[in-house]
Amino acid sequence: MTVPVSVIPTRAQTPPTQSPDEVRAFFAAHRTVRRYQPSAMPAEHLDTILYAAQRAPTDATAQLYSLIRLTGEIRERVAELSGNAHIAAASESFVICADAYRVRQFVAHGGAEPGHSPTSDLHFALGDAVLAGQNMLLAAEMLGYQGCWIGGVMNAPGDISELLALPPGVLPFAALTIGLSAEDTPQRPRLPRELVVHENRYRLPSPEELAAAAEIMNPIAARPGQPGNWVRLLCAYFAVGGSMEKREGPLRRLLRRQQLEGDRQ
Ligand SMILES: Cc1cc2nc3c(=O)[nH]c(=O)nc-3n(C[C@H](O)[C@H](O)[C@H](O)COP(=O)(O)O)c2cc1C
Repeated sequence: MTVPVSVIPTRAQTPPTQSPDEVRAFFAAHRTVRRYQPSAMPAEHLDTILYAAQRAPTDATAQLYSLIRLTGEIRERVAELSGNAHIAAASESFVICADAYRVRQFVAHGGAEPGHSPTSDLHFALGDAVLAGQNMLLAAEMLGYQGCWIGGVMNAPGDISELLALPPGVLPFAALTIGLSAEDTPQRPRLPRELVVHENRYRLPSPEELAAAAEIMNPIAARPGQPGNWVRLLCAYFAVGGSMEKREGPLRRLLRRQQLEGDRQ
């Protein structure tokens, strides 16, 4: 039964459900988890997680995202293509996509000609996709699950987009796995707040601040018996010859194919 909108209480009409300490404790308990108990998710939990996705704020009311729920052979294949086996092992796995296709269908449905704004479409659709996906992860964590965002889908974006039959205007952002944790994961560090929160104007970090922050982040790159070197980890992604450069060509080709490539000026 659908509840009439007028009787759904707003936040202002409901007392806070948690204190600041409880909110901090919830976020402090966040861990990305890659090993899961082999259990199916009850339908009510899945429904609640998808409800949370759809309650996310959205640009221009347009809901510029699509969630592809993965099952069976397609799920196995996405796990293989992305190089992330936990996509196959989780209770639920999704590919979270930026979607500027559906909005164009609505515009055409309204008798207008869809405009040409691939760069803006992509910008706002990626935002919507992330907001919906992170709402899913937060709802899952509230229900006791843990999960993992997987940018590894960008290791084979063309093949994965073809496999998922993504129409023009749709771009995979990342996969999201959800399940009950089967690992004991320490909390991973974050950069000092002064590096990521600016007041009014962007403040450039000093070399000393960068060095001190890198020390703080080192444990995130530690492996059993090996001290971590976070900057080395970043270099594997972002330095010349790193994986981001390798992703560039396939992503550009996919953007062209999906009609999301900005015009050359
Ligand atoms: C957009 C995005 C892409 C990610 N891609 C991967 C991935 O491909 N494989 C993986 O195992 N973890 C992936 N992660 C998880 C990060 O490694 C993890 O969030 C980070 O190490 C911080 O750990 P924490 O979430 O436990 O604090 C990704 C996270 C995000 C937000």
